Amino acid sequence: MATDAGDSADANPALAADASPAAHLIVVSNRLPVTLEQKGSEWSFKLSSGGLVSALSGLKREMSFTWVGWPGKDFGADDRDKIDRLLSENACSAVYLDDETAELYYNGFANSILWPLFHYHPGEMMFEETAWDAYQRANAAFAEALARVVKDGDLVWIQDYHLMLLPRMLRALLDASGRRGVKIGWFLHTPFPSSELYRILPVRRQILEGVLAADLLGFHTYDYARHFLSSCTRILGLATTGDAVETAAGGGGRVVRVGTFPIGIDPDKFRDALQTDEVRTRLGELERRFAGERVIVGVDRLDYIKGVPQKLLAFEQFLSTHSGGERVVLVQVAVPSRGDVEEYRQLITSVNELVGRINGRFGTIEYTPIHFLHRSVAFSELVALYAVADVCLVTSTRDGMNLVSYEYVASQAQRHGVLVLSEFAGAAQSLDGAVIVNSWNIEEVAGAVALALAMAPAQREASFRTLHRYVAKHTAAYWGTSFIAELTRVRHAADAAALL
Ligand code: ADP
Ligand code: G6P
Repeated sequence: MATDAGDSADANPALAADASPAAHLIVVSNRLPVTLEQKGSEWSFKLSSGGLVSALSGLKREMSFTWVGWPGKDFGADDRDKIDRLLSENACSAVYLDDETAELYYNGFANSILWPLFHYHPGEMMFEETAWDAYQRANAAFAEALARVVKDGDLVWIQDYHLMLLPRMLRALLDASGRRGVKIGWFLHTPFPSSELYRILPVRRQILEGVLAADLLGFHTYDYARHFLSSCTRILGLATTGDAVETAAGGGGRVVRVGTFPIGIDPDKFRDALQTDEVRTRLGELERRFAGERVIVGVDRLDYIKGVPQKLLAFEQFLSTHSGGERVVLVQVAVPSRGDVEEYRQLITSVNELVGRINGRFGTIEYTPIHFLHRSVAFSELVALYAVADVCLVTSTRDGMNLVSYEYVASQAQRHGVLVLSEFAGAAQSLDGAVIVNSWNIEEVAGAVALALAMAPAQREASFRTLHRYVAKHTAAYWGTSFIAELTRVRHAADAAALL
């Protein structure tokens, strides 16, 4: 298994040794990480924050890069010219999709078929040919846009389940136009499910063949990579080793490398925010507000994979049998997400009902057990909430990694709070020092919350130190640099025809 390399993103020996100084990196994701705003006839550009943007901060020092993605909507011809200019000044390039294609590709195929299947929710999977057609059209539009900008020797790094046909489509266009030495990497930010589940997908072969045109495939955990390799063997009949697939049954194909690269965050952003007046003032206010109460924090996109109902039921169980008379509140931030998909709308209704029921059952005039914020909150508010909480509760029923758990650790240098973390989040495989739970076992989660709140300071500090060491080293920049170092290296192996 290819693993992440080097000791720090700033001085990654693998990258320094292998990457050509002239290498140009093209990052491709469904969404461009930008906010475009119109004031009068002028447009303004703002880069969003996020794991991928942080990952590039390490790479930007080593190589030039361009970001290619969908700008979020279809702009009219007049605006496109202005937007294209603005994007290109900021090293970005837009792939425009008409509204119908975008809707069917993003909501219809990516979020209603691949997302539920990859998170072990086949019941939510609604396979429709029109959505599959749109997924192919959208991936083809990305391939055409890329083929216009990719040059000989470039590195192309494609992100996530939205773009699984893109490696193959792009490779075909590059080969047809005689471009040479282009290396393609693809990284999956979600789990890859067991082959037993994956094989349900009607277009299972096309999707696997789509990504197998890349040179390097990356996953967050060893389990996800292993599931992918078994799917290649069982569905396509391909030979695999622990870290590679040969693309032709019976030999003679290309060798595609498969590696694990667990993503991280930019912990300095949280440390620095905690030093600002804005966050310190807010933290002080929250400490006064919650004086005499213990605080549990939950921060999730409101997605059925995050196990928010399970979390609420566990908190209810905790209040009825474990709280020991202590006043404990759950502050749950639930960021609205994918509201055009039916399952997400149903989830809002059931979560609202649970919150109402639990607050009605345990609340008093002086005490509200659950503070439920169904909206996005400002970064300073998020950091203050992480910092004030005695416990962070993550109960995902499946989750590729879960960066919220990392962010909580990065914000706990003072309090040494306890992370209670679902074993079904990728983060559970890295974060030694968390209290790991089966999020489906309501009683176990309730008991873990009680244990976390009662944990002695010395034990909390020891756990925090272990967690913090990992989060501080395995940053987003480290992840990005490690993947690109490996992509640069694997090309030599990929040229060889024999796998075993
Ligand atoms: P996912 O990628 O599935 O949403 P993660 O836990 O990996 O789950 O990442 C969520 C990201 O969204 C984190 O970086 C977190 O800080 C950010 N986030 C979560 N809630 C909010 C919020 N209310 N406002 C702004 N950002 C948020
Ligand atoms: C997950 C996916 C990302 C996606 C994010 C937010 O983390 O892996 O690719 O961007 O969720 O979802 P959204 O549908 O709002 O882009």
